[in-house]
Amino acid sequence: METKKITVAQVRADFDDPVSVVHYARAAHFLGLWASERALMERFFPDRNVPLLEAGCGAGRATLGLWDMGYRDLTAFDFAAEQLDQARHLAAERRADAIRFEVADATALAQHPAIPAGKFAGALFFFNGLMQIPGREHRRAALQGLREACAPGATLLFTTHDRDHSPTERALWRLEAARWERGEQDPRLPEFGDRYFEDETGRTFMHLPDRAEILADLAATGWQHAFDALRREVAPETRAVRDFSDECRFWAAHKAQSSSGAVCRCPCRSGFTPDVSGINPDLQFPN
Ligand SMILES: C[S@@+](CC[C@H](N)C(=O)[O-])C[C@H]1O[C@@H](n2cnc3c(N)ncnc32)[C@H](O)[C@@H]1O
Repeated sequence: METKKITVAQVRADFDDPVSVVHYARAAHFLGLWASERALMERFFPDRNVPLLEAGCGAGRATLGLWDMGYRDLTAFDFAAEQLDQARHLAAERRADAIRFEVADATALAQHPAIPAGKFAGALFFFNGLMQIPGREHRRAALQGLREACAPGATLLFTTHDRDHSPTERALWRLEAARWERGEQDPRLPEFGDRYFEDETGRTFMHLPDRAEILADLAATGWQHAFDALRREVAPETRAVRDFSDECRFWAAHKAQSSSGAVCRCPCRSGFTPDVSGINPDLQFPN
């Protein structure tokens, strides 16, 4: 068995593989935004004209969905050039040429000419893309890079899995913990919580955190936690969305206000009344 640890470069190669490109291109053409993504965009980004940065845009599933929602100042990047090609083609087909697509690695954003420091009112890393970065220090580098790119008060919206989201998951991870204690884990995995598998959608690396880990990573990288909830608590999803993507946890965090006292742009702090159609009415947002 291969024993070399999974690297960022391996993940990029896996996403550039034709099997993966076809999978994400199909989702970009036929699936679009999830109901939960739409609801949280309405909630946290009511102004369609603010500059937004989408990390890990892949073939453009969320990017084109955001365009269709009316967001007009979009910069989307991915390190997988083949995925990005698909996104560019789809944008041209849908007359969304104003979207800026960039090749960039989320773990090394500093000094990218198209991603200047302090520019963006929001950063998005949908469908667990942040968790496809192997190594906690690299995930933290990505969180730091996105923070640098954002203006004070900006909101970061992203998803992760949650190792504790069901009794079955908890039981499976207890077994995995025992394997790590015995030193019998897959030797390619850099950390506990990682998975690497191959199926009809290609090869996938994924880190599955628990909630405490993400709270610690946000705090360590200068993001203030604002909100988190399981997807099923945010909005019901269609069968097609549930087939494409299993349960995940949404997170929102704010870049701390500057010492000059700039006002937070997040609607949850400014009395904004969201469009709540399709959103779970019991969901608690920050006051
Ligand atoms: C699960 S896919 C999601 C693609 C798209 N956002 C969607 O929802 O269909 C994760 C994306 O993150 C990208 N990604 C992973 N690590 C990255 C990194 N270090 N820098 C830039 N993109 C990355 C992958 O290339 C892939 O396109």
